[in-house]
Amino acid sequence: APQLGDAAVERIQGPFGEPVWAITTWADGRAVLSDAERFSREQLDLQGVDSPEERRRIRAGNMLTLDPPDHTRLRRAVTAEFTVKRIRNLRPRIEQIVDDHLDRMEAHGSPVDLTDAFAPAIPSLVICELLGVPYADRHDFQSRAATIIDFTLPMETRRQVSLEMRTYMRELVQQHRRDPGDDLLGRLITRRGSGDDPDDLDDDELAGLGNLLLIAGHETTSNMLALGTLVLLRQPDQRRLLVEHPENVDAAVEELLRYLSVVHMALPRVATTDVTIGDVTIPRGDAVVVSLPAANRDPELVEHGRDLDLGRAPTNHMAFGHGIHHCLGAPLARAEMQIAFPRLFARFPDLRLALDDDPDFRTETFIYGVRSLPVAWG
Ligand code: HEM
Repeated sequence: APQLGDAAVERIQGPFGEPVWAITTWADGRAVLSDAERFSREQLDLQGVDSPEERRRIRAGNMLTLDPPDHTRLRRAVTAEFTVKRIRNLRPRIEQIVDDHLDRMEAHGSPVDLTDAFAPAIPSLVICELLGVPYADRHDFQSRAATIIDFTLPMETRRQVSLEMRTYMRELVQQHRRDPGDDLLGRLITRRGSGDDPDDLDDDELAGLGNLLLIAGHETTSNMLALGTLVLLRQPDQRRLLVEHPENVDAAVEELLRYLSVVHMALPRVATTDVTIGDVTIPRGDAVVVSLPAANRDPELVEHGRDLDLGRAPTNHMAFGHGIHHCLGAPLARAEMQIAFPRLFARFPDLRLALDDDPDFRTETFIYGVRSLPVAWG
C-alpha cells in the first residue's frame, strides 16, 4: 500500500511502480470521485494492451473500469437487484446461512481458522446463490480472484487467470441461456432477451458483469468480517458495545466500515484535462488515486478518526467509494455484516484470538485483509 504523508495531494509510487497522484483528504477525495468527466476510469492505460478490440474485450461488462455511457447502461441493468428493499427480502436466507456456518464451527470444535470457517464462506455462498454460480466451484473462483487482485504477480499471469475466469463465466451464461432459472444471471437474460433492445447485454458483457459481482461480492465483505472480528477481539470495550446494544448494530457496522476501510484505495482514475487541487496542478493524462482510509480519518469528517468508536453516530464515510462507481453491493454487504457480527459473538461469548502475535496481513492487493485468523472458545 502507498505510504502517505500529510499533504492533501502527493505524488507517490502506484502499485506497479508507476507515478500516481494520491488524494488524502475527504473533501478532495469526494470531489475527484464525483467528477467522472475530468477523472476517467476508462481512459486509464491498460498496460501492454494496444489493440482497441482487446481493450474492449478485457473491459466488457466490468462497469468499474468503464465511463458513461457504457457504465450507465451496465449499472442500469443490475441496479434493481441490489436495492435496500430487495436485499431486505434476502435477510432471512442470510441469517440461515450465518447460523449454519456457526453450527458447523461449533460441531468442529475450538480452535478454528475464521478465514476458512466463516469469513469467505458466508459472502461466497450468498453471492453464488444470488448470481446463480455453483458454490461447489468456490475454491477455484476464490483462488482466481485472489490472483487477479494480487499486484505482486506479473500482469501476464493476472490477465491469463482473468481470461480463465471469463471463460468459466461465459459457460455459465450459456447454460443460463438454455435454462435461465430464477437467479440474477437468468433474470438478466430473460428480462431483456430480444437481442434488439439497446440495453441487452451480450455474452461477453454478461460474463464480465458476472465476474465483477462474483469477485467484488466475496473478497471485500469477507475481509471486513475477518478484520472486524480481529479488532473487536482486541478491543473488548468496543465488542461489549456491539453485544449489549444490538439496536445500534447498523451504526456499529458503519463505524467498522469507516475505521477499517478495507478497500484502501478507490481504483485509479486518469485526469482528462489539467486539474488544480489546492496548490497542485495535476497534468492531463496523469493517474490519480483516492486513499479511502486517509479520507475516512480526516478531521473534517470525524473527530479522533484513528480510534474505533462503535458508539459514534454514523459518518458520511467513503468506505464504499463515492459518485457513479459507489459500491453497487453496499446494501448487501451491510446486511451480511449486520447479521454476521452479532450472531458470531452471541454464539461464542468467550471467543478469543488463538495466536500470540499479529496475524498474517495481506499486503499484495488494494484490499486489506488477513490470510488466516485462528480463534478459540470454551
Ligand atoms: C464498487 C467497496 C461489497 C459490488 C466499490 C467501490 C468500493 C467498494 C470502494 C468503488 C471503487 C472505485 O470507485 O474505484 C466495497 C466494500 C464492500 C463491498 C468495502 C464490503 C464491505 C460489495 C459486494 C458487492 C459489490 C457484496 C456485490 C454484489 C461492487 C460493484 C462495484 C463496487 C459491482 C462497481 C460499481 C460501479 O462501477 O458502478 N465497492 N464493496 N461490492 N462494488 Fe463494492
